[in-house]
Amino acid sequence: MQRFVVDEQLSDLELTTALHEPAMALRNGELVAFPTETVYGLGANAFDEAAVRRIFAAKRRPVDNPLIVHIATMDQLRDCVPAGYVINEVERALMEAFWPGPLTILVPVGPLLAPSVHPSQASVGVRMPAHRIARALIEVAGVPVAAPSANTSGKPSPTQANAVAEDLGDALWGLVDGGLSDVGVESTVVSVEQNQLLILRPGGVTREMLAATVDVPVVLDAYLTHGSDAPRAPGMKYRHYAPEANVHVWWGDADRVGEAMSHFLQTQQESERERAFAPAVVAPRALKSHLPSLHQAALQAFLPDSDYERTLAQSLYALLRTFDHNGATDILIAGVNPAHGIGTAVMNRLDKASEGRIYAV
Ligand code: TXA
Ligand code: MG
Repeated sequence: MQRFVVDEQLSDLELTTALHEPAMALRNGELVAFPTETVYGLGANAFDEAAVRRIFAAKRRPVDNPLIVHIATMDQLRDCVPAGYVINEVERALMEAFWPGPLTILVPVGPLLAPSVHPSQASVGVRMPAHRIARALIEVAGVPVAAPSANTSGKPSPTQANAVAEDLGDALWGLVDGGLSDVGVESTVVSVEQNQLLILRPGGVTREMLAATVDVPVVLDAYLTHGSDAPRAPGMKYRHYAPEANVHVWWGDADRVGEAMSHFLQTQQESERERAFAPAVVAPRALKSHLPSLHQAALQAFLPDSDYERTLAQSLYALLRTFDHNGATDILIAGVNPAHGIGTAVMNRLDKASEGRIYAV
């Protein structure tokens, strides 16, 4: 695997030059991982069926799980939809407001796309990433790029190049290293329905932001609120984002969260002789005083109080990986309000990572 370290601050011309080689490889059917503002993507030419199939093999991804197609220009959107498809008013408003950015919009599948991009789907998810390196790479390649998150299926998504190399190094032709992803959770996936905008996966663009942009009601897929019916985004049904350690999440009143975490630590440490217990903690700094019972050597990440939601989103996946590397058996996380802003996406990922061990206090 070749690694290309690229600085996002380069001029347009310098970026084009730096990305020429990986872009040509991508165009010619190789797998190239690249940074986006959400998480790193595992890219293949979306017109090349053999290349797209290799994505599924590399990630060990279930074959029924469709891929997102990444574009750099509105012209490339034309190559993803049927000839003569007219973008409707809601779609246009979303594209104008949130592209480039962390929003994936389902549109009808065009005939040029490799069939494995959209297994048994009449629609394909398209997004124009905000990350300059991602856009330059796709533009130079000159083809839309199919890209799931660049992790082994089931593991936390990668927000830095080392995590990609760890999971997929052997399967890649190249890895474009553009540093840390900014948003840290994946894009929001939406479907424009007759009288509503349906969120299939909460992500970087919040429900509030969508509601401020379109005239139709914005609703979460019933699967996300009730967990009952099958999810409309096939990927949502799989265990996901999960580290090796057991994840436990508490959210609600800050003091009660601190007390509950502290109580959990104490009871586990008392029963330590029965099982190895190596806790890791993620919480706002304000909770530090609640947790004197933490082991000396415990793994801990105390994040800024004022910007906790955003920093948690940004650093969550990297923290889960780091704690695993350091042998944590249990990761205790102070969660956030799932009904608000980026909190919906963060708590959705934590629900999967913790296999439902989320406690409102
Ligand atoms: O932020 C992101 O979206 C990242 C970066 C690399 O762009 N990509 C990403 O892709 O998260 P992936 O494959 O890990 O997740 C795509 C999600 C899955 O849950 C999939 O089931 C859903 O989007 N999806 C994709 N195409 C779909 C379609 N046509 N219909 C319904 N769900 C779809
Ligand atoms: Mg993924």
